[in-house]
This record gives sequence, structure tokens and C-alpha cells, in this order.
Amino acid sequence: MVFLTFQTATMVNVLVLIIFLFKFYADGDVGTSNDKKLKPRNYSGPRCKISPQDPAWPKTQEWQQLNNTLNGRLLQPTPAPSVCYPSHPNYNPASCAFLTSGAIKFSRFWLDDPLSVLYPWTEGNTCLPITVNSTNEERTCTQGGFPVYVVNATEPEHIQAAVNFARTKNIRLIIKNTGHDFLGRSNGYGSLSVWTHHMKEIQYFPDSNIDSYQGPVVKLGAGVETWEANKAMLKDNFTFVAAKLPTETVGVAGGWVLGGGHSNLASMYGLGADNVLKLDFITADGQYLTATESQNPDYFYALRGGGGSTFAIVTSVYFKAFPGLITLGTAHFSLTTGSIPPSTPPQTPTAHLSVDNFWTAVNLYLGFTQNIVNAKGFGHGDITNLGGNKSFSFSSQFLMPKMSLSQTAEFITPFFDSLQKHGINIKTPIPTVIPYAQTGLNGTNTVPGTGTFSSRLIPRSNFDNSSIFSVTTDAIRKVVESGNQLRTRAYSPSLKVVGSYAAKAVSPAMRNMILHTTVFATSDITSLPAEQFLEGLKDLDERVEILRKVTAGSGAYFNEAGRLEPNWQESFFGRGNYERLLKVKREVDPLGVFWAPRTVGSEGWEVETGDGLPTGNGRLCRVGW
Ligand SMILES: Cc1cc2nc3c(=O)[nH]c(=O)nc-3n(C[C@H](O)[C@H](O)[C@H](O)COP(=O)(O)OP(=O)(O)OC[C@H]3O[C@@H](n4cnc5c(N)ncnc54)[C@H](O)[C@@H]3O)c2cc1C
Ligand SMILES: *[C@@H]1O[C@H](CO)[C@@H](O)[C@H](O)[C@H]1NC(C)=O
Ligand SMILES: *[C@@H]1O[C@H](CO)[C@@H](O)[C@H](O)[C@H]1NC(C)=O
Ligand SMILES: *[C@@H]1O[C@H](CO)[C@@H](O)[C@H](O)[C@H]1NC(C)=O
Ligand SMILES: *[C@@H]1O[C@H](CO)[C@@H](O)[C@H](O)[C@H]1NC(C)=O
Ligand SMILES: *[C@@H]1O[C@H](CO)[C@@H](O)[C@H](O)[C@H]1NC(C)=O
Ligand SMILES: *[C@@H]1O[C@H](CO)[C@@H](O)[C@H](O)[C@H]1NC(C)=O
Ligand SMILES: *[C@@H]1O[C@H](CO)[C@@H](O)[C@H](O)[C@H]1NC(C)=O
Ligand SMILES: *[C@@H]1O[C@H](CO)[C@@H](O)[C@H](O)[C@H]1NC(C)=O
Repeated sequence: MVFLTFQTATMVNVLVLIIFLFKFYADGDVGTSNDKKLKPRNYSGPRCKISPQDPAWPKTQEWQQLNNTLNGRLLQPTPAPSVCYPSHPNYNPASCAFLTSGAIKFSRFWLDDPLSVLYPWTEGNTCLPITVNSTNEERTCTQGGFPVYVVNATEPEHIQAAVNFARTKNIRLIIKNTGHDFLGRSNGYGSLSVWTHHMKEIQYFPDSNIDSYQGPVVKLGAGVETWEANKAMLKDNFTFVAAKLPTETVGVAGGWVLGGGHSNLASMYGLGADNVLKLDFITADGQYLTATESQNPDYFYALRGGGGSTFAIVTSVYFKAFPGLITLGTAHFSLTTGSIPPSTPPQTPTAHLSVDNFWTAVNLYLGFTQNIVNAKGFGHGDITNLGGNKSFSFSSQFLMPKMSLSQTAEFITPFFDSLQKHGINIKTPIPTVIPYAQTGLNGTNTVPGTGTFSSRLIPRSNFDNSSIFSVTTDAIRKVVESGNQLRTRAYSPSLKVVGSYAAKAVSPAMRNMILHTTVFATSDITSLPAEQFLEGLKDLDERVEILRKVTAGSGAYFNEAGRLEPNWQESFFGRGNYERLLKVKREVDPLGVFWAPRTVGSEGWEVETGDGLPTGNGRLCRVGW
């Protein structure tokens, strides 16, 4: 039944897509000399990308030739947890004990592995790091949705060779940087992977010139992670917009920036994509090109917010930088309905409240998020259901760019006064001031997770009108009551803030929002049978639906969205942007060399997983491309 429903839904989606594409072509609303390229091509080749079983799959000798072109940088890795499976040739109980021990949490192991992704369910859970014993001995380890070959790229030429090989042989191509993607965009069955992780160049130019821009610029290779960027800022005394504190391992010049990229500086300087002045990249036909506002403007438009794995493989990104270390005035507080405070930094003022007062205080905070973003700040606020709708906690942090200790104290005081007025007693926290680049310097805080994720952007207009605001806070409470946690991130990369630098592919919903909510289902769905697994994904989506109902016309953040996000084209990009992006996609990648789930043009293809699950573990086939 579950399967049927899912497949029916998929068929409906495909139909809607066909109608949408048909309408799009029929309208001929593009009006340029490129119109013809938009028409569906008379494609007569195979319907699907080739798989390792197909006779057309390249012979070992051809892979060796590719390896020679790459100076030996072609890998053929097996999933790291294969050491845990007695039936696998790699079986090694000691190595497995390392992978399943807590110690690995503080290592670089998964991040430096050519195949691993942080959300293994997106691959198909075909080789989990578990100890196989008598109760789960039917478990096996297969390659599943992991790529077959990986190019350990360090130079643009390596990427050119990989793209040309995949295009001419009709092989599925994927791009993996850190593997953080929540939707499974950095893995895929039967594929050749371009692994950008080792492209680590960082160069700071205190005074540079790109088009009309003159000033500090930092050039980053595609594999640079946030903690490495932070270290460079501290060393060379500059700041630029990278992923938010305390995220350490997100790739700055890969999926993060290509899909928008928010950070603690978003209300002051906009998104990562807004700060991009120039990009170098490899196209679907293997050219090595550069885009700026004046050079290759279609790529410049699409790569700044139109999403990773869609238009090109970026090799380096040039960001606008600011001299000196920008500081953040920060302060923590927490609320709890119990006697035990939730885990918060030491010396965090905590109020112990009744359930009613807890929600009064949370709602006062949600109202105050307008003040946070108006003052160009960022607010973290995680609301947790500790069980049975009777027990909750809230943990919050203000991060106010360029505010001194006294300015931060002055800024937060009215909020704590408003709590007092409602009889909620909590000490006003003592602020600290830290450089933006100061935290997240280890690069070790990420291990594969078992949860699923979804997001909704709440527009400013929901805060302007008190009756709509109270409907919104009721919805937030309902989402928390329906599961375990809702995270709020207050920030506003509005057009007013960003001005003429605004990355135009970013959705209007991100420009208009002031609160980004994310909903987690932390229960481990990895060992469930497919039907229950799908049920878990749907449950999560139903919880987000509560927020969609009160935010009609808004959207979700491309990089942190749920896999089942409905009407995702509009939700991630806005309708107008989507049509323009799809036009660019069809022009720059007519053969569909680049593909990942829920990216521009991805509706033209489908992964045949066979089990009804929306993973990458199956052949990639055309359904309308
Ligand atoms: C722990 C954690 C913290 C996060 N914190 C933040 C945050 O603070 N702010 C925020 O905005 N988001 C955040 N995210 C979401 C993050 O932006 C996405 O997961 C993003 O996809 C990561 O990009 P990546 O390159 O590191 O990951 P990958 O999974 O390696 O890549 C993501 C996507 O980009 C594509 N891609 C990667 N490199 C390139 C390239 N060079 N050229 C073309 N395509 C490429 C991949 O094919 C894939 O489709 C966080 C995610 C996690 C798991
Ligand atoms: C596509 O094929 C049809 C039928 O064979 C033919 O009439 C048409 O001209 C072809 N279109 C293109 C663009 O080649
Ligand atoms: C590629 O060549 C290198 C160096 O000769 C070798 O170590 C590696 O195993 C080769 N890769 C594959 C997939 O054969
Ligand atoms: C066997 O595996 C299951 C599932 O991974 C685990 O919960 C259990 O603790 C394991 N038992 C032993 C004895 O290791
Ligand atoms: C990938 O290349 C980098 C840089 O040359 C090297 O340090 C690393 O060991 C390589 N990784 C693998 C798995 O071969
Ligand atoms: C860092 O840059 C700022 C702003 O330009 C400057 O005021 C400060 O002196 C510099 N610090 C060091 C240690 O160079
Ligand atoms: C908590 O409240 C929600 C409605 O907000 C309800 O659906 C759910 O059943 C409640 N859970 C418990 C354990 O009472
Ligand atoms: C990470 O670095 C911080 C300092 O920036 C340190 O306090 C902390 O202990 C480190 N954590 C780990 C897990 O190494
Ligand atoms: C607030 O929104 C409600 C519901 O849409 C509407 O009836 C009311 O007129 C609005 N109030 C103001 C002041 O705009």
C-alpha cells in the first residue's frame, strides 16, 4: 500500500513535470536565439546511464587508460564499513571496532574517506558501520549507491578527464566534496565520482580587482572546509562569509555556496553566494572556464545559488573579503520545564518554568528574532520536546556581528526585561565577544548520522501582524509536540542588506524570511524495512506541512531540505528563477552529464531503486530529458 502510494505520487509528479515542460516549451517564453536548444532533442541513445553489468561498461583497460591520463589518481574503493562484515574479503574485527567505537567521533576518518557520506540512508544503507552478530547476521555489505570509481582530483585537468570520460561513455557522474548533503546529492549507483576534497588552495589578496569590485578577495579551492577557512582568516587577519559557527566541516566552495550558504554574518553581508565575485569551473563539455558578472554571465547567475551538481564542476571560488577579524557579540540562555538544565555551555542562565510559561518565553523569543535580524544579527534557538508534551527545553544563542560587550548587553536587555514582565525570572547573560573565525578549528565534529531533515522558511510578514504571528507560534509548538526537535535560525539576507551584489538565483523566499526552521527526525531509520523507512520520511514531511500551512508562498532551503519536499522547484528557487535556471541547464548541459536529486532539471530523470525508496541506489534513467 505504502509502495503503491509512493509510486502513484511519483507518476503524478512525472505527469506534472511533463505538463510543466510541455507548457514551458509551448509557451516559447524565452524569446532568444537559443530557443531551439530548449526543445526536447531527438535522442536515440540508451534510456539509462550505463551500469557495471551492461556490456557497454568500459573494459578494465579503458579504466586503466583513464587512470594513466590522471597520473594514477583513479580509485576503486570499497565502502569503509566492509571491515565489519564476515562475508566480505575486507573483514577485520579490529578495524570494525574502531569504526563503531565512540573514538571515531573525533577523527577525520569519514571526512577523508572517498565514498562516505554523512547521511548513509541516501545511498541505500548497503554497508552500515555495525557489528554483525547472531541477531543481525543477514546484514551484508555491497557497493549500493556508492560510486564504483573515484577521481581523487587536485587539478582542473583531472576533472576535465573525468567529465569527458563520463560524457562519452554515458556513465553517471557524481561530485563529492565533504559528503554533507542531506538529500543524497553526493552519491549514486554505478557512477564515476569526482572527489574535490583535496583541492585545498587558499590565497588571500588584500587588494584585488574583479570587474567593478576593488578590495580584499580570498580564493578558495573547491575542497576547502569551514575550519580551514577559519584558520586562514585568523592567520591573515581577514574575514569572509563562510558556514556558520560552530559548523566546522561543511565545504565552503562546494555545495554550501552553490546552493546559497547561510552563516552568522548573513544579516549583515548576505549569503555565501552573494559574496562570490568569480568562479573557475569545468563545463559538461569539458572546458575550463571562468565566470564573473561580465564573463560567462549565465554560469555566473546559475552557480551563485542555483545549486551544486547541476551546471558545472567548480574548481575555485573567489569571495569578497573584509580586512581584519570581524567579531560577534554573543550570549547564551536556556529554558527548561524540568529541574535538570539541558546541555548548554557553562554559566548559561537557565529558567526553570511551567509548560505554559515555557511557551510564553519561547514566543517572546520568537517575536524578538525580528530585532535580532534588524540589528544584523543571527539567532540560534533549538526547541526540544523531552517527552509527552509535558517536558521541553530551549537553548539559544545571540550572535551579533560587530557589537561590543556593552552593545550586546544593551541589545539583549529589552528581551530579558520582557520575560521579567511576564513573571519569568532569568538572569540576563553576560556577553562575550569572539572573532567570527575563532570557533570551529578542529575539523572533527562530523560523523555519519541516522536521522532525516527538513526545512521551512518563515517570512517577515508572519511577524508583522499579531494574529498571523500567533498562528505561526502555535504551528511551531505543534511541530515540537509532534516530534522531538525544531531548530530555529534567525537571519535575513534580504535584498535591502545585499543590494546590487545579490545572487539572483537565490529564491525570493530566502530574501523575505527572518526565521529558518529545521525539523529533525533523529530516530534511527537506517535498519528499518523499506516501507517503515518511507513512512518515517513521510512523517517528517507531515510535520513540516504544519509550517507550510502558515507560510503559503514561502519555501525551503535547497541545502537543508527534506527529500520529499513537495513542489520543490518553486519551494527551493521560486517559479521565475526556476524557469530561468532550467533554461540555463538545458543550454549548458543538454546531455544531462550532471545530475543529483532535486536539482534544476533533475525531474527529467529518475533513479530506478526498485524498493520505492528515494535513494541513489539504482540506475539513472531518462523520463523526459
Ligand atoms: C553538520 C552540518 C552543518 C551544516 N551547516 C550549514 C550552515 O551553517 N549553513 C548552510 O548554509 N548549510 C549548512 N549545512 C548544509 C550544507 O550547506 C549542505 O550539506 C551542502 O550541500 C554541503 O556542501 P558540501 O560541498 O560540503 O557537501 P557535498 O555533499 O560533498 O556536496 C553537496 C552538493 O554539492 C555538489 N558539489 C560539491 N562540490 C561541488 C563543486 N565543486 N562543483 C559542483 N558541485 C559541487 C555535490 O555534487 C552535491 O550535490 C550543514 C550541513 C551539515 C551536515
Ligand atoms: C525529430 O524526428 C522527427 C521524426 O523523425 C523529425 O521529423 C524531426 O525533424 C526531428 N527533429 C530534429 C530537431 O531533428
Ligand atoms: C591507478 O594507478 C595507480 C598508480 O599506478 C594505482 O595505484 C591504482 O590502483 C590505479 N587505480 C585503479 C582503479 O586501477
Ligand atoms: C548485535 O547487533 C545489534 C544491532 O546492531 C546490536 O544492537 C547488539 O548490541 C549486538 N549484540 C552484540 C552482542 O554485539
Ligand atoms: C588523494 O590525493 C591526496 C593528494 O594528493 C592524497 O593526499 C590522498 O592520500 C589521496 N587519497 C587517496 C585515498 O588516495
Ligand atoms: C588586522 O586588521 C585590522 C583592520 O585592517 C587592523 O586594524 C589590525 O591592526 C590588524 N591586526 C594585525 C595583527 O595586523
Ligand atoms: C502532543 O500534542 C500533539 C498535538 O500538538 C498530539 O498530536 C500528540 O498526540 C501529543 N502527544 C502526547 C504524548 O500527548
Ligand atoms: C576542538 O578545539 C577546541 C579549541 O578550539 C578545544 O577546546 C576542543 O577540546 C577541541 N575538541 C576536540 C574534540 O578536539
Ligand atoms: C492581520 O491578519 C488578519 C488575518 O489575515 C487580518 O484579518 C487582519 O486584518 C490583519 N491585521 C492587520 C493590522 O493587518
